[in-house]
Amino acid sequence: MSEAKIYDVPREWAEEAYVDNARYQAMYEASVSDPEAFWGEHGKRIGWFEPYTRVKNTRFEPDVSIRWFEDGTTNVAWNCVDRHVAEHGDRTAIIWEGDDPSESRHISYRELASEVQRFANVLKGEGVKKGDRVTIYLPMIPEAAFAMLACARIGAVHSIVFGGFSPDSLAGRITDCGSTVVITADEGLRGGKRVPLKANVDAALAKVGGVSSVIVVKRTGAPVAMVTGRDHFYADLAANVSDECPCEEMAAEDPLFILYTSGSTGKPKGVLHTTAGYLVYAAMTHQYVFDYREGDIYWCTADVGWVTGHSYIVYGPLCNGATTLMFEGVPNYPSMSRFWEVIDKHRVTIFYTAPTAIRALMGAGEEPVKKTSRASLRLLGSVGEPINPEAWEWYHRVVGDHRCPIVDTWWQTETGGILISPLPGATRLKPGSATRPFFGVRPEIVDAEGKVLEGACEGNLVIADSWPGQMRTVYGDHQRFFDTYFAAYKGKYFTGDGCRRDEDGYYWITGRVDDVINVSGHRMGTAEVESALVAHELVSEAAVVGYPHDLKGQGIYAYVTLMAGTSGDETLRKELVGWVRREIGPIASPDLVQFAPGLPKTRSGKIMRRILRKIAEDDFGSLGDISTLADPTVVEDLIANRQNKP
Ligand code: WTA
Repeated sequence: MSEAKIYDVPREWAEEAYVDNARYQAMYEASVSDPEAFWGEHGKRIGWFEPYTRVKNTRFEPDVSIRWFEDGTTNVAWNCVDRHVAEHGDRTAIIWEGDDPSESRHISYRELASEVQRFANVLKGEGVKKGDRVTIYLPMIPEAAFAMLACARIGAVHSIVFGGFSPDSLAGRITDCGSTVVITADEGLRGGKRVPLKANVDAALAKVGGVSSVIVVKRTGAPVAMVTGRDHFYADLAANVSDECPCEEMAAEDPLFILYTSGSTGKPKGVLHTTAGYLVYAAMTHQYVFDYREGDIYWCTADVGWVTGHSYIVYGPLCNGATTLMFEGVPNYPSMSRFWEVIDKHRVTIFYTAPTAIRALMGAGEEPVKKTSRASLRLLGSVGEPINPEAWEWYHRVVGDHRCPIVDTWWQTETGGILISPLPGATRLKPGSATRPFFGVRPEIVDAEGKVLEGACEGNLVIADSWPGQMRTVYGDHQRFFDTYFAAYKGKYFTGDGCRRDEDGYYWITGRVDDVINVSGHRMGTAEVESALVAHELVSEAAVVGYPHDLKGQGIYAYVTLMAGTSGDETLRKELVGWVRREIGPIASPDLVQFAPGLPKTRSGKIMRRILRKIAEDDFGSLGDISTLADPTVVEDLIANRQNKP
C-alpha cells in the first residue's frame, strides 16, 4: 500500500518547537540505548520529597515486576497544584465550560489549591486514609478534578467510573476495589439532558455492601433521595473543614488510581497506575507531543471517566502548570458549532479530540466550522481509535485551516500516556498513521508465533521494554496482569492491537486483534455484552462482534439465539437493546441484533467468531473454510438474515 500524501513539518514548527527531527533522533536513540540515564534525567521534571537513586527496575519475564524511581518519594497533588501556587498562583489552572454556553468558570492555581485541600479534609472527615479506595462517579464538573487531586493529596486511590455506566457496572467496580466512599452528583447535564447519577448510585448500593459514605455534589439542584447517616451533600461537609491539608509523602510506587477497562475475556480489569513514573510520563508526553508552552490554552475533550481525561485533562497538564479546559457538554449542543465556539470563546491554542467526534461533525458540513474564527488554534490532536484519512484531511483543512499540525496519538489505558505519536516540530505527517514512538518506547511487530518482523511489515504490536507510565498490575489479580499482557510473547508487553510498519518506519495501527471493539473511541469487551445478553430470560446464547460503522468507527453487532419456543420480533429486539443499556450502560447498546437459530461452532463447541465478523462486515465472499463447522448450514441462515438497519 502506498500513501500519497505526506505533510512536511512547517518551517516555523521545526525552528521553534522543543524538538526538531534531528533532536528527536538523538533523544530517541539516547532513550532506548540507556534508559537509566535518560529517565534518570527526565525524572527530575517533577518535584521530589526524597530524591530517587534507583531509576528503572523492571522485568517482563519470567514474571512481571515494574518499578520506576522506586526509592524516591513525592506527591502528585503537590506537583499538580502546590508548586505552581508560589510561582504563578493567579494563573488559570482550569477553565470550566458548562453544558449551557452561558456557564463558564475560571479557577486559578491558588483557588485550585484551596478547593483540593478542602476536598481532602472532607474525605479525611469521612474516614478515608492513605491506601483506601474512593469511587468517583461525577459529571465533567471542576469537583471531579478537585476530588481526584484530593485523593492524591492524602494518598487515597481513586477509581473513576464514567457517568455513562449503569448501576450494575458501577456496583461491580465498587465491589472489585472495595471502596467505602463514593463521590457523585445529584445529576449530570449533557447536551441539555439530565443524567440521574445519584439515583444510579442508590441502585448500585442496593446491590453491594461496604460503602459507608456517599458524598453528593449539587450540580442541577434536583431533589434526590438521601440516606441518613450514609449520604451527605458535599457543600455541608465542606463548610465544616479548613482549606489546609498537608500532602501525604508517597513512595514512587504507591498506587495513584485504578481505572477499569474492558478486555477480551471476563469482567473489566482494574488497571492500576502508581505515583511517580505515571506523573513523569504524563507530564513529559503532554509537553512534547503538544509542544505545550506557557500561555497555551489547552483543551482535551475527553471525559475524566476515561484514561485520556486522567492523563491529559488533569495530571499531565496540571503537572506542567498549564491552563486546561474542562468541558461538560457534547459536540452538537446547542449546535454543531459548539466545539469551535468554545475555541473562540476561550482562545484555545491546542485542541485534542477523538475521530468519532470529527466524523460526526464532518457530517454536518463545513459551514458550522467556517462561521467561527479558530484563529487561536495552533495544534490539533486525535486519540482513541484509528483516524481514517478522510477525517484527518477534513480536520486539517477545515478545522485547522491547513495551518495546524495534527498529532495522532496512539496509546491505551494500560500505557498511562502516549506511546506512538508525531512530535509537531519533528515528524512529517501521514494521514492515518500515528507515526513514530515517543522517547523510551520500543515498539516491535511480531507474527502469530512471536517472531519479530523487520522493516516494512504487518503483525501484532508489542512493546519490548518498560516505560515509566506503564500500568503496574491488575488490581487484586497480578496473575491476570501477566496472563493478559506478557504470556503471549515472552518478555514483551502485548498491546492487543494489530499494526503495520511502512518503509519509513511509521506505525499504522490497524485495530484490535482480540475480542475488544472500539465504539466511538470507547473500549468494549464483546464478552461483556454477551454476558449481559444471556442474562435475559429469553436469550439462550449470544455472540457479539464489531462491524464498520461510519460514525462510531465500529458498531456492535449481536447474534442472539433465543430460548426454544421463543420467536424474535421487533419488540424483543428493542427490549434486548434496552436491556444491555441498563445492564452495562448506553455506550454498550447493540446497533444491530440478529436472531439466529444457531451459531457457527466447531465440533468442540467453540463459536467461530471469524465467520460472524465476516457476515457482520457484509463480506460473504471470504468466509474461509466452513467445513469444520459442526453444522455448516447455520451459515446460510446467518447470511440470509443479516441485519442492515437498526
Ligand atoms: C485504540 C485510549 C489507533 C487502540 C487512549 C488501543 C487507537 C485502544 C489510537 C485503547 C490511535 C487509541 N490510533 N488506535 N491514535 N488511540 N487507539 O484504553 O485499539 O480506551 O488499543 O485508551 O484504542 O483504548 P483506551
